[in-house]
Order: sequence, then C-alpha cells, then structure tokens
Amino acid sequence: MNSNQTRLAALLQKQPVIPVLIIEELCNAVPLAQALIRGGIKIIEITLRTQAALDSIKIIADHVPEAIIGAGTIINPSQFISAEKAGAKFIVSPGFGKNLLETADNSNTPFLPGAITPTEIIKAYEKNYKFFKFFPAEEIGSIAYLKAFISPFPDIKFCPTGGINRKTAPLWLALPNVICIGGSWIAPKKLIQEKQWDKITKLAKQTLQL
Ligand code: 3PG
Repeated sequence: MNSNQTRLAALLQKQPVIPVLIIEELCNAVPLAQALIRGGIKIIEITLRTQAALDSIKIIADHVPEAIIGAGTIINPSQFISAEKAGAKFIVSPGFGKNLLETADNSNTPFLPGAITPTEIIKAYEKNYKFFKFFPAEEIGSIAYLKAFISPFPDIKFCPTGGINRKTAPLWLALPNVICIGGSWIAPKKLIQEKQWDKITKLAKQTLQL
C-alpha cells in the first residue's frame, strides 16, 4: 500500500462509525464538533453540500484540534483542493473520475473514492486503491450485495454509507470486508438546526458502543 492508503487505513480502523455531517449554518460547526468529541467521536466527515461547508471545516480545524476532519461529497478536483486548504485530513467522494484520481495521486491527503460495481472497483484497484465508500448502501441492494464482493475482492474494504441507522449498523459492521460505516443518524440535520448538542453527544456515545 502507498503511504496515503496506509494512513487512510489507520484512520478508518480507528473508529467504526464516522458521522456524515451536513452543516447549513457556520455558527453550528464548532459546537457540533465539540458535542461529538464529548461523545468520544473524533473522526468526522463534513459534506460539501452546503455554502457553509468549507468554512465549517476551517473553523473546526482552527478551534477543535482534537477533531480529525474529512471532507465528503467531493466530486471534482477544485473541491478536493479547497477542502485540503480548509484543513481536511482526508477526502471522501461518492465515486471517482479520471481528474479526481489524478488530483488525489498528486496529493498527500488520503482519498476514499466511492465504488459500487466490480468494474469500478477494478478501475480504482488498478490505481492501487483498496478502500472504497459504498454509497448509497441500503438503496443499492444492501448487505447481501456487499457480501458477494468478499470472495472476488479479498483485499478490498468498504465504508458503507447511505440509509444506515442504529439498528442496521451492526449488520454492516459484521461484514469482514467492512472497515467502518458512515451516516447522518449520529448528528441528524434536525438536531443540528435545533442545537441539541447534548442529544448529539448521547447519540455519539451510543454509536461507539455498537
Ligand atoms: C453520505 O454521503 O454518506 C450519505 O449522505 C449519508 O447517508 P445518510 O444521510 O442516509 O446516513
């Protein structure tokens, strides 16, 4: 494995569940990260789906040094570079393209691309990628589908996200080709909007018991 993949593996192994965060208002970024840290969750993914996303990465990187921030929903090279500059320590995409892989190859920031078909896996495997986001997990066809990849791809590991909740999380985590899972259920949009930080801390604690 190259050094980016080795560092990515170390990160993903550290925490079985990574919260996928959608931050609409910048003022919520630091209290949200602190609420998760109080609940024992250090590795977080902030999706670039809102205006406030990049500034949220920056402000958390500046004010919550314990947090290890990944930038998610990266679908082009310029987002990759902006997220790195803002302080993201790893980059996540629902897929990958030629340009995105080239950008990742020229960077020291670990990249977790998305792949859900054998052809996609082989394409990225040819470029030495061994860890993939598996999105949207529940909608694709679920656990049996991913289980079928164990035999043909013995050294590939996945991080399923999309539609997973507290009840289904243990089923995904039990698969030998799952290194970690992700989801928004640990810090749902509504709780963030309502600034329910204690509830988010509680959900984080429950999540780490999975
Ligand atoms: C992601 O980008 O990983 C998903 O949007 C998370 O999916 P969820 O909101 O259904 O957990």
